[in-house]
Amino acid sequence: MLSSRRSLILLLSIISFAVASSSIDLSGLLPQLSPHASVTDGSNLAAQRWTEFDSPTPGATVNVATEQDVLVTVQYCIRENIEFLSQNGGHGWSTTIHLKQNGIIINLGALNDVTFNKAKTEVTVLGGALVSDVVAAQFANQAIVATGTCNCVGALGSALGGGLGNLQGKLGLISDSIISLNVVTASGKSITVTEKDFDLWWALRGSAANFAIVTSVIMRSHPVEAAGLTAWTGPLIFAENKLEELVQAVDELFLKPEMSVSLVFVSSGPPNNTAQVIASVFFYGTEEEGRQAFAPLYKIGPLVDGTTIQPVTRWNDANNSTCVKGERKQTFGAGLARMVPATWREIYKEFQSFIQLSGSANSSVVVNADSLVELRQIPEGSSSFPFRNTINFHAFTVAWYADPALDHRATAYGSNVRDLWRSTSGLKENSTYINNAYGDEALEVVYGHNLERLKALKRQFDPYGRFTQWFSLAD
Ligand SMILES: Cc1cc2nc3c(=O)[nH]c(=O)nc-3n(C[C@H](O)[C@H](O)[C@H](O)COP(=O)(O)OP(=O)(O)OC[C@H]3O[C@@H](n4cnc5c(N)ncnc54)[C@H](O)[C@@H]3O)c2cc1C
Ligand SMILES: *[C@@H]1O[C@H](CO)[C@@H](O)[C@H](O)[C@H]1NC(C)=O
Ligand SMILES: *[C@@H]1O[C@H](CO)[C@@H](O)[C@H](O)[C@H]1NC(C)=O
Ligand SMILES: *[C@@H]1O[C@H](CO)[C@@H](O)[C@H](O)[C@H]1NC(C)=O
Ligand SMILES: *[C@@H]1O[C@H](CO)[C@@H](O)[C@H](O)[C@H]1NC(C)=O
Ligand SMILES: *[C@@H]1O[C@H](CO)[C@@H](O)[C@H](O)[C@H]1NC(C)=O
Repeated sequence: MLSSRRSLILLLSIISFAVASSSIDLSGLLPQLSPHASVTDGSNLAAQRWTEFDSPTPGATVNVATEQDVLVTVQYCIRENIEFLSQNGGHGWSTTIHLKQNGIIINLGALNDVTFNKAKTEVTVLGGALVSDVVAAQFANQAIVATGTCNCVGALGSALGGGLGNLQGKLGLISDSIISLNVVTASGKSITVTEKDFDLWWALRGSAANFAIVTSVIMRSHPVEAAGLTAWTGPLIFAENKLEELVQAVDELFLKPEMSVSLVFVSSGPPNNTAQVIASVFFYGTEEEGRQAFAPLYKIGPLVDGTTIQPVTRWNDANNSTCVKGERKQTFGAGLARMVPATWREIYKEFQSFIQLSGSANSSVVVNADSLVELRQIPEGSSSFPFRNTINFHAFTVAWYADPALDHRATAYGSNVRDLWRSTSGLKENSTYINNAYGDEALEVVYGHNLERLKALKRQFDPYGRFTQWFSLAD
């Protein structure tokens, strides 16, 4: 029964595949995949990504259903010399992704289980789980796990580049919570990597996309009382003429482990399209503690105070609108050591003028300031995230629009904003968190002082350059 159903699915897949594309022959792979896996042509929904700007145009998508499926797909691609790209949340916006019709996407989406041990001290997150899956599991299991602040982003896609989140002050980077990783290597082997695997352990936590496909990780998790599943959070909206004071206050604010804040510019929407100045505050504790911790911001006098106590399932709600897939989104980022009011005024003007262009009202400017307390207690050399002791603020701007005719305007805008950030960053070198980078940066900008060691490990672990889509380290 199972096998005849399976042959039917196989047959259908082969037919639909043959119709859709003739450039890649996956007929030899199909019989090796598990029953729930499928192959679809490159333009299907599963491959639809956050941005359509310069996005991959694969010849086919393999929708894997088990960790073993990933292994056999990689082995097949190696044997047949087919380029591949793993996809978790599909939010990677880097223009370094160059996958064309001769390549395939390995869609990890169905590998989305998040399961805890009995004591809730460890959690297994599969390679296709989204932040929303981790969030739902935290609530259901009454446990806290380090994760990102946008529901739609890949949990590992974000974690494996380092991983920023609002509990960073208590838990460190998201990748700092990893205990072990199940990966498929560039030589087509399935292995488990722990701290005993000195080099790979170091490289994967910060630069995984260049070394392996991570099919699952075990992470530390923290069982909590009911109150531990809530935080005080929400937007404070300021008059535009308070911008300088606000930037200064954010620069000077000491972020205790419970705190995080982001400064955001968004459009008020049509017809006026005025850039709004918002400080989005987060305190892992009570309202009273939160208000006190953010007193310097309250002193400036917000026009609107949207803060309240929220359960973990609501913490990321404000970012749902950023999650929407499709349309064009060119995203430029920069790391900062300090916040300079005059620079932010210039950026405000650039943003105000960009959002007057037709269809660009969903654009945004965001700078994340998470507490650095725990991050900086963890040694610099413990993982390949290079900016533990340099970057204090992670900024990016999303130039979001629909009409390809605006591509050049958006590139000029984003690049200009990035120049402004860099001009007063307070850093010795231009440095950008890899997951926030545009794609045109010199490799030193995203890998910092780790570049040479990473390149040497690349030669050792991926000599034929199988993983080349993400700020490639290949020669
Ligand atoms: C709306 C939005 C919110 C964001 N919020 C945060 C945040 O809170 N914290 C943060 O740190 N970052 C955040 N980011 C940045 C985010 O980390 C990057 O965009 C990241 O690349 C997205 O991962 P993904 O899985 O969604 O994308 P994908 O495009 O699926 O993956 C990005 C890259 O990682 C590789 N990859 C994905 N999964 C794996 C895996 N299992 N093993 C090996 N390689 C893999 C892919 O091959 C690709 O090269 C945000 C981005 C957006 C667009
Ligand atoms: C998402 O929202 C939180 C709090 O509302 C904020 O701190 C964070 O910066 C936002 N993240 C992004 C990527 O917009
Ligand atoms: C738009 O601008 C006009 C003129 O400045 C103002 O009267 C109106 O209240 C604004 N509308 C909104 C929704 O902000
Ligand atoms: C935000 O998105 C999540 C799913 O990712 C959903 O559960 C939640 O209800 C959304 N919140 C709002 C306010 O739309
Ligand atoms: C912006 O996003 C909203 C919903 O997220 C959508 O309805 C709207 O059409 C988008 N585009 C513009 C130009 O505002
Ligand atoms: C940083 O980037 C800017 C362009 O954005 C460039 O002018 C500057 O020289 C760079 N600085 C360093 C130290 O490389």
